Amino acid sequence: MKTICVFNQKGGVGKTTTVINLSAALGLNGKKVLVVDLDPQGNTTSGLGIDKFDLSKSVYDLMINGEYEEGCILKTEEENVDIIPATSDLSGVEVELINVDNKEKVLSNILSNIDDYDFCFIDCPPSLNTLSINALVASDSVLIPIQCEYYALEGVSQLMNTINLVRSSLNKNLEIEGIVMSMFDGRNNLSLEVVEEVKKYFKDKVFTTMIPRNIRLAEAPSYGMSALRYDKNSKGSIAYKKLAEEFL
Ligand SMILES: Nc1ncnc2c1ncn2[C@@H]1O[C@H](COP(=O)(O)OP(=O)(O)O)[C@@H](O)[C@H]1O
Ligand SMILES: [Mg+2]
Repeated sequence: MKTICVFNQKGGVGKTTTVINLSAALGLNGKKVLVVDLDPQGNTTSGLGIDKFDLSKSVYDLMINGEYEEGCILKTEEENVDIIPATSDLSGVEVELINVDNKEKVLSNILSNIDDYDFCFIDCPPSLNTLSINALVASDSVLIPIQCEYYALEGVSQLMNTINLVRSSLNKNLEIEGIVMSMFDGRNNLSLEVVEEVKKYFKDKVFTTMIPRNIRLAEAPSYGMSALRYDKNSKGSIAYKKLAEEFL
């Protein structure tokens, strides 16, 4: 199983949208995908059609008990996509793990018990806290969505510092999977300029496939569906299918 965390400490850049739709696209491609929702907001959980308020177990319970438990993985309606869901309890994990030894390795230990999947995608919270560090330590690579907006590169050096810190200590083999440009608008000079800037910084790590701004991508979560299931012919769905091919 290859584990990829989708990480950027900025909120609203497309992490959750990418986790849901890239997973759904890979699932349609016949890959078995596990999604781990590591954001207390639980947007990936609800976006994949799981009722956050009706869960007997979530990633919070696993992290507090420090071990994998039977029944923590739920099926979703997306083909070949399962999930370990999150609830708002997860926001307490930071404090509750304070005195735990190796608190950065809790998630990694849990996931080491799972290997019936081709890929595991971890959706990170918009912060540089213990949860994000756990995700980086548990992963083989990092996928970084960057929004095509004026302040796109703001915070990127901090983000790279965090990745390098994790590499120098807890996870030497952590790779950069790639940069996904999100909410791209080709008619807009700003979008084109931002892509150029990001390419100067990340070079060939930037995926050729860019995700356009598309209303279907924003609507689908309110129906608990990926955009690929909600409207498979939408521009957003087609872009994520292409991204999945490029990823593979
Ligand atoms: N390509 C896109 N086109 C239109 N809306 C998008 C797109 N990507 C994300 N959104 C919307 O923007 C908001 C933030 O995206 P989200 O994926 O939740 O970001 P993050 O997880 O990084 O906070 C959400 O309301 C989402 O539906
Ligand atoms: Mg999110």
